[in-house]
Amino acid sequence: MNSVTVRVPAKVNLQLAVGPLRDDGYHDLVNVFHAVSIFDEVTATAETGMRVRVEGDSAGQVPEDDDNLAIRAASALAHHAGRSYGVSLLIRKSIPVAGGMAGGSADAAAALVACNELWGLGLPLADLMEIGADIGSDVPFALLGGTAVGTGRGERLTPLEVGGTFHWVFALAEGGLSTPAVYAECDRIREATGTEAAWPQASEPLLDALRRGDAKALGAELANDLQPAAVMLRRSLARTLDAGREHGALGAIVSGSGPTCAFLADSEPHAVELAAALRAEGVARDAVTAHGPVPGPAVGQRP
Ligand code: C5P
Repeated sequence: MNSVTVRVPAKVNLQLAVGPLRDDGYHDLVNVFHAVSIFDEVTATAETGMRVRVEGDSAGQVPEDDDNLAIRAASALAHHAGRSYGVSLLIRKSIPVAGGMAGGSADAAAALVACNELWGLGLPLADLMEIGADIGSDVPFALLGGTAVGTGRGERLTPLEVGGTFHWVFALAEGGLSTPAVYAECDRIREATGTEAAWPQASEPLLDALRRGDAKALGAELANDLQPAAVMLRRSLARTLDAGREHGALGAIVSGSGPTCAFLADSEPHAVELAAALRAEGVARDAVTAHGPVPGPAVGQRP
């Protein structure tokens, strides 16, 4: 085999509870991850040396050097195997770049799965997740897919059974937000307002809504502690969120560290209507529909 293609989904956080800043610069989280049907595709081809090329809408915003998370993941895997493997990675991007949907982590996860296959390593998922956790906090979930509760930095995962499919609209913003900058702004707001960060707890009503597949209840429980910080850094997001609520979204939330906004619809046709309304209001660069949960990385499929 000299080429392997892996399709990998984006994520949205249904609950992101951010605890106090730790000594290592990270925050303890409760992070309810949910994989949705917006996909990047990574093709790994046998090659001497490591290289990466990025195609797609926002390809220009993704580094094509050693800072690329997919290359870092492939290098970490080769290092783990103790061999000087080479690979050429082609990333076809649909997941918004620096959009709060873990696009970089998804590409790293896809690279791990593709290179594991290409190099015939046969490592189990648990090993890939451990290697992935060093690349980024969201990489283990990107390897898992579905819906899961993350604790620690977000890398310790418990999969969740979900009782149905949810229909989403994602409002894509012009340009990205830096994840460290949004966490830092969250800390700054807490300090300025004298708010003590509580120890993060999973929301039982939210987990229950997921188990029952109850979109209305889920919409009411969506919660993101990073939202005030993302809105502070990108004021226009307040208007985007309001527009979704005015058009009947069951829940409206900034996705992860933003600036993508996620809206829960009560059906697929409602999602299509909502996306059209957001586009017509001019509150986003684009609005796309998706469903979740979807499985994690899939080998040999095209989007
Ligand atoms: O793990 P990852 O490299 O994706 O994290 C990017 C940045 O997000 C970290 O450098 C840190 O500033 C912030 N972060 C955090 N707490 C977490 C996860 C990420 O503060 N649990």
